[in-house]
Amino acid sequence: MLNIQEVKKRFSIFQNQPDLVYLDSTATSLKPKSVVDKIREYYEEYSANVFRGIYPMSEKATMEFEETRTIVSGFINANSSNEIVFTRNATESLNLLAYSLGRKILESGDEIVTTIMEHHSNFVPWQVLTSEVGAVFKIIDIDEEGYLNLGINNIKDQKSNIKNINQKLKVLDQIITKKTKILALTYVSNVLGTINPIKEIVTQVKKINPKIIVIIDAAQAAPHLKIDVKDLGADFIVFSSHKMLGPTGVGVLWGKEKLLKEMYPFMYGGDMISEVYIDKTIYKDPPHKFEAGTPAIGEIIAFKEAIKFLNEVGMEKISEHEKKLTRIAIDRLTSTFGGEIKIYGPRNVDDHNGIVSFSFGKYHSHDISQILADNGICVRAGHHCAMPLHTRLKLPATVRASFYIYNDEKDVEKLVEGLKKVKKILKA
Ligand SMILES: Cc1ncc(COP(=O)(O)O)c(C=O)c1O
Repeated sequence: MLNIQEVKKRFSIFQNQPDLVYLDSTATSLKPKSVVDKIREYYEEYSANVFRGIYPMSEKATMEFEETRTIVSGFINANSSNEIVFTRNATESLNLLAYSLGRKILESGDEIVTTIMEHHSNFVPWQVLTSEVGAVFKIIDIDEEGYLNLGINNIKDQKSNIKNINQKLKVLDQIITKKTKILALTYVSNVLGTINPIKEIVTQVKKINPKIIVIIDAAQAAPHLKIDVKDLGADFIVFSSHKMLGPTGVGVLWGKEKLLKEMYPFMYGGDMISEVYIDKTIYKDPPHKFEAGTPAIGEIIAFKEAIKFLNEVGMEKISEHEKKLTRIAIDRLTSTFGGEIKIYGPRNVDDHNGIVSFSFGKYHSHDISQILADNGICVRAGHHCAMPLHTRLKLPATVRASFYIYNDEKDVEKLVEGLKKVKKILKA
């Protein structure tokens, strides 16, 4: 089990605000002191540009920068650090794929498949691309509990009877065809908390169409679950540093090296270039081919401290801890408020990451979150950049409480107490 008090000591924010109840890590996580110190180290000790200088400060910055790439590569078990492209965030990684890959391979009449539970970042780029090209935009629905409509009820089921699962996954036969060029789906829903059975889905869709490209939005998975890109079998995976204890301004695009090599560059100029002539330009190989201009050097350098922190705590422990808190939160909220509270997403916490989204009575989500904020509790209200999902659920907005390594049962209790106050104030 995690020792939360020890974890909290390593975040300066809790020394500055000891009563902070931060339940919004799905939007962005807090940052440990080691990450902040590393950013300061770069700016105070060797704040030169990377790849360009041959003087010691630039060499040191380049070495630290590339070391992060190696550490990210190890964190997700990539084949090589050449498969790790640094972007600004998961959104940019997905847009890069829509431009550099989508525009290359998609033709009129082709299909892109995504799901109704996507964040706008993994929905709009594909919607725009398909409408530009005259391709078909197909969407996988969810069931009443917030699982993807694949006929799978939970991951345990899938593991216990693979034959049966293969049978169930046949639902994908109706959606994926030989014309489906891309399947882009989230690993974990940022609203429902649903953990999708990515490995099984990838296996099945590649059976139906071996040429399909599978893109996984792991923005809500990389901070919480052990990711092994070789095991998952997808072609591309994206995530953001700022949701996993790292700095803002850093995103990751992992892709199979062969595919990265075949793709168009995304932006032109700076260090993505090898040679330029009046009539032509030769680009560097991936990953640098996709890293035009000066990157967020200090932030990328400090990102490795976040990964070291996660590795030190252990991804299995982190996800166990979050499952436990999710269970406690669902139980406490339903036992206290009964039918007044409606919690979305799977009931089985093995399939439900540490995100608890809910509606509460007839109270408006923004009023609820304002009163919670007045009581020192940070949650998010709104559609959480997942409007198609909220429309599907016939909801204008939800309140979202999300848990991470610095949260404990006391935070859940404070949320329950805060909601009691909400009831009192809004009923008056
Ligand atoms: C599932 C999911 N995908 C993509 C994103 C976009 O991440 P970023 O804003 O870091 O680009 C988010 C952010 O909340 C998310 O939850």
